[in-house]
Amino acid sequence: MFDFFKNKEPVTENTNSVVTQDYTDVGEIANYFHNETGIIFDSQMSVLKNKVTSFCKQREIDSFSRLLNDIKHNMQLKQELIDCLTTNETFFYREFKQIEKLVELVKNSNTSVKILCAPSSTGEEPYSIAIALLEAGINASNFDILGIDINSDAISKAKIAVYGERHLRNLTPQIISKYFSLDNSKYALNQNIKSLVSFKIANIFDDSFKSIGTFDYIFSRNMLIYFDKKHKLKAKNILESMRKTDETDVFFGHADLF
Ligand SMILES: C[S@@+](CC[C@H](N)C(=O)[O-])C[C@H]1O[C@@H](n2cnc3c(N)ncnc32)[C@H](O)[C@@H]1O
Repeated sequence: MFDFFKNKEPVTENTNSVVTQDYTDVGEIANYFHNETGIIFDSQMSVLKNKVTSFCKQREIDSFSRLLNDIKHNMQLKQELIDCLTTNETFFYREFKQIEKLVELVKNSNTSVKILCAPSSTGEEPYSIAIALLEAGINASNFDILGIDINSDAISKAKIAVYGERHLRNLTPQIISKYFSLDNSKYALNQNIKSLVSFKIANIFDDSFKSIGTFDYIFSRNMLIYFDKKHKLKAKNILESMRKTDETDVFFGHADLF
């Protein structure tokens, strides 16, 4: 109840009209965001509320209900909200055992392979796969890697491929000096690796998502952890239907439990 009063502030606009800010009930934004992306905030509603309140204030949107109306009609604003609310934590050679397993499978296949990373976040995972395949002596012409993510900032960063030291913590000094150049305390990935991965902004739940094709191997790690049970299952079905054959499993992360 007190929250209600705290979040309603009169704001003077153009000296002669007064609008009331209403940042009280973030529930409808949470529901809309959940339906669109699969992501739930259940135990973190206060975090969501703070983030959405700042988002609105920065853009002079005076209430959550106005924001909800605007994102339904303004795709740019909707994308900005998605970029603000998704968590993009990732690093090179994360859960490396699965990448080693993929390398073995690619080594044993006698055709060139298509690999999907959904989600790729800022690029560390698909680039790790490219580096590991090259390190195993596999020719770059034998694989094709696509990274997709719903977050457009993450995809822009993936294309630039300049990383802080923290993101390289699992790499050996040899790998770092072979594939990166150090510039102003940042590590820029060499063009020869960048050119092996393409990126696309995509929501796996969009109707158009499946039109990106079918793949020999699919990585989908540490995304389902943000979904409710229904969306985990839906995502699993979508990704499994995009395999070229039923014989390969989708590589989910160890925390992506069903
Ligand atoms: C924690 S990162 C995982 C990145 C990488 N796979 C890894 O394991 O290090 C989770 C990513 O999932 C993306 N994501 C969340 N919901 C999505 C959706 N519906 N479609 C596509 N990407 C989504 C987020 O934007 C975020 O970049």
